[in-house]
Amino acid sequence: MAARWTLNEKQHAGEEHFETEAVAQFDEKMPFDPASEIEILEEMGLSKEDTVVDLGTGTGVLPIAIADHCDRVVAVDISETMIKMVDKSIEKYGIQNIETVHDGFLSYNHQGDPVPFVFSKDALHHLPDFWKIEALKNIGETLTMGGIFRLRDFVFSFDPRDSHETIEQWLDEKKEFTDFSDEELYGHFREEYSTYGFLLESMIEQAGFEILESTYEQSFYAEYICQWNGHSN
Ligand SMILES: C[S@@+](CC[C@H](N)C(=O)[O-])C[C@H]1O[C@@H](n2cnc3c(N)ncnc32)[C@H](O)[C@@H]1O
Repeated sequence: MAARWTLNEKQHAGEEHFETEAVAQFDEKMPFDPASEIEILEEMGLSKEDTVVDLGTGTGVLPIAIADHCDRVVAVDISETMIKMVDKSIEKYGIQNIETVHDGFLSYNHQGDPVPFVFSKDALHHLPDFWKIEALKNIGETLTMGGIFRLRDFVFSFDPRDSHETIEQWLDEKKEFTDFSDEELYGHFREEYSTYGFLLESMIEQAGFEILESTYEQSFYAEYICQWNGHSN
């Protein structure tokens, strides 16, 4: 059982991820083509015998696309509305090798042998920094030694001394070309926990990963390929 001081993940997971209408429109609002992610995981050694765990899976875009490329996929999300959506798609497409798990980064307790691949996109920023490290430790426990964690998220790489101007400029540009309301955009900074890349890299390493590759895009997004090496840092 989780300690009484453990974060309530649901309270931090974004209200819109629990609303049926918002979830039904999610893929249109946040389109995601998983092809290049599958290529990356295959380059990292993914084979038909492997299991992939996707944490914060949302509507299950990655699990549905990768199911043909591996043996088993576990799609995990703290939102029951998202999980129901994944279940519906699994049934619709007749996919046999995806399991859905209604759970969080912190509460997920992997069943079965450790897995060689964990994936997470646009979800870790829902946790405050202390809890990101706890989540990273849990991801490590889920992985085999040497296993790969592919992480993508909203991460800052601008100079902290320029934060206000940079964020204002980003908001001005974003407002022109997005389906997100101004309030949703402001809320990302006010209520969610995107952090700086230099902090996140340190968290990833302190949790027990080696960062094999890190890519920063336009000061607001980052992609990492991390390898679990236990606690040898
Ligand atoms: C922006 S969506 C991204 C969904 C999907 N990964 C994608 O990129 O299409 C964030 C997802 O993370 C989930 N989430 C938020 N906090 C979580 C937590 N602590 N544990 C697991 N899932 C979480 C939300 O319910 C939501 O489905």
